[in-house]
Amino acid sequence: MDRYAVIGHPVAHSKSPRMHAQFARQTGQALSYDAVEVEPEVLPAALQALHEQGYRGLNVTLPHKVAVMALCESISARAQIAGAVNTLIRTEHGWRGDNTDGEGFIRDLHRLGFGVTGRRVLVLGAGGAVRGILEPLLRARPATLVVSNRNPWKPEALAEQFRDIGPITPRTHLSLKGDRYDLIVNGTSAGHGGEMIALPGQLLAEGGDCYDLSYGKAFLPFRAWAESQSAARIADGLGMLVEQGAAAFELWRGVRPDTAAVIEMLRAG
Ligand code: ATR
Repeated sequence: MDRYAVIGHPVAHSKSPRMHAQFARQTGQALSYDAVEVEPEVLPAALQALHEQGYRGLNVTLPHKVAVMALCESISARAQIAGAVNTLIRTEHGWRGDNTDGEGFIRDLHRLGFGVTGRRVLVLGAGGAVRGILEPLLRARPATLVVSNRNPWKPEALAEQFRDIGPITPRTHLSLKGDRYDLIVNGTSAGHGGEMIALPGQLLAEGGDCYDLSYGKAFLPFRAWAESQSAARIADGLGMLVEQGAAAFELWRGVRPDTAAVIEMLRAG
């Protein structure tokens, strides 16, 4: 049976094994999928061992998404642009790195009917998670794409890095005062500490949508803020998680699973 796994630290609570088991069942694929705890110090040795054990593909989660890049035999263009790898595909001699996070994000927006094209889009935060969604966001041609952060340097660096793909306006959160956006995406990690970032008054236009890259408890502060903005629709990142997994599954197995059923299953707990 072909073997797959997610590697991370900690990884015990990962939803990936349940998700991929469901994908395999749905598509009639015979495979196993487990969670492998890998501490940062042993990442190179672990990758080598998993290769020798015949694993055909791996998902990579925190804290390895950037470090794993140096250990890949080759890296896809989109993973290079995202600056991180979330999917490994076995090759003869090693691992090819890819990144399905951006694709998963855009597919989830599409599933939800949250438009990007021609809309004013604001992304909150300028860390690794945000970098992973900027390429597909720009390619969907928003009217404007603003990236804001507490300090202006990180958004400025992103605007520079993505200049050839499309224009990003770098801002600080507090300088957004008076602006209106049709789609606001929370890409900060503040929710993991139970916080919502400090923002000026009304930022969401009438009929506007809010999306958080996080899910579970980390989503709650942003959800409360989005409600206070009278958002037309509010979504967490659980759909993105499933969509990025489905995209990885398709890379490995050549068949696309039905994500809606799996999102429902995970939401049910
Ligand atoms: P990730 O991989 O989750 O993107 P990261 O690269 O550390 O993590 O980025 C975290 C992002 O959340 C950054 O944009 C960070 O803002 P700063 O660059 O100003 O630190 C943002 N962030 C985290 N906690 C925050 C908080 N309490 N208030 C505002 N922004 C916060």
